[in-house]
Amino acid sequence: MSSSRIVAVIGATGQQGLSVIRKVLEDKTFTPRALTRDPSSATSKQIQEQGAEVVKADTRDKVSLVDALRGSEALFIVTLSGYPPYSADKPSEVTIGKNIVDAAKEAGVRFIVFSSGPGLTKLTGGKYSKVSFYDDKAQVEEYLKASGILNASLHLGTFTENMWTQGTLKKNETGTLTLSVPFFTASDINGFTWVGHDVGEATLALLKNYETKSDDISGRAYPVVTANISHGEFAAIISKVLGKEVTFITAPPIGHPNYDEMFEAAREYQGFYISTPVPNPELTGLGAKFGTIEEFVQTEIKKRFSD
Ligand SMILES: NC(=O)c1ccc[n+]([C@@H]2O[C@H](COP(=O)([O-])OP(=O)(O)OC[C@H]3O[C@@H](n4cnc5c(N)ncnc54)[C@H](OP(=O)(O)O)[C@@H]3O)[C@@H](O)[C@H]2O)c1
Repeated sequence: MSSSRIVAVIGATGQQGLSVIRKVLEDKTFTPRALTRDPSSATSKQIQEQGAEVVKADTRDKVSLVDALRGSEALFIVTLSGYPPYSADKPSEVTIGKNIVDAAKEAGVRFIVFSSGPGLTKLTGGKYSKVSFYDDKAQVEEYLKASGILNASLHLGTFTENMWTQGTLKKNETGTLTLSVPFFTASDINGFTWVGHDVGEATLALLKNYETKSDDISGRAYPVVTANISHGEFAAIISKVLGKEVTFITAPPIGHPNYDEMFEAAREYQGFYISTPVPNPELTGLGAKFGTIEEFVQTEIKKRFSD
């Protein structure tokens, strides 16, 4: 029988949301409710068959959000990055984030986990001020903290999944592989997050503890870091597991100031989470069981890049 405790998930059919849906289904303390623009999509149908509720909602439409969130005890939020010019049809990430928080308040949601990141203008004292997709999340995070709803934010690193979603890992005709990212050299440290595994783990741990440990948890930001390693070390792990040569090369700048500043800042700040022990004891202490880069390569890279 499914639990009457509902966790709504915004971004439920995407990388982070699916990670949360899967862990919540596995654990069974809560029933996940996936909010999507398209309940008839293949992913929506698949998660419904696995036991999730699926409800239509659009983050640009507050009324649809309030309706979809009613009866939910908790909520996981993913917001997507956007660029001006903004309009009612294409609101900013900040507008969407605030819309969701307001709707959650109206619907009586008690706890929110927000997928966020460090605001780089503040972190770097104004040196990197163009990375809107970090600064916008930081603004929403502050709005959430002031909302009166119990809350926690996840600060994510570079997604390990970028290797195939963004094409940072490529097969060469000679059977070797190349990993390439702008600005980083092979030895610069970066903070990586295995989204499919660790976003779900971190969120579930917070969901299961927020009531009894709300004084400790609420208002805090938790780095979710699978590893703080260099791209050269990452390439060496892939090489060992696949038995293929994997070389790291510095890619050319993207040519878009938001992205280029993000890479430059991440290189300078060693991925932003260098002071976070891995696995993060603040989350493992709540029961999160993080993956490792070796497991990520075994389960996700091997099947995509072996032949
Ligand atoms: N790549 C990285 O290294 C990295 C690192 C740190 C942070 N991030 C952040 O991660 C975020 C992307 O997360 P992700 O990869 O999990 O996203 P994703 O896989 O692209 O999924 C996007 C989700 O958003 C939903 N969605 C889009 N527009 C919507 C709307 N108007 N109303 C309701 N739902 C809507 C989609 O659902 P439906 O289509 O089903 O409606 C889908 O489930 C970005 O904000 C990015 O800045 C990325």
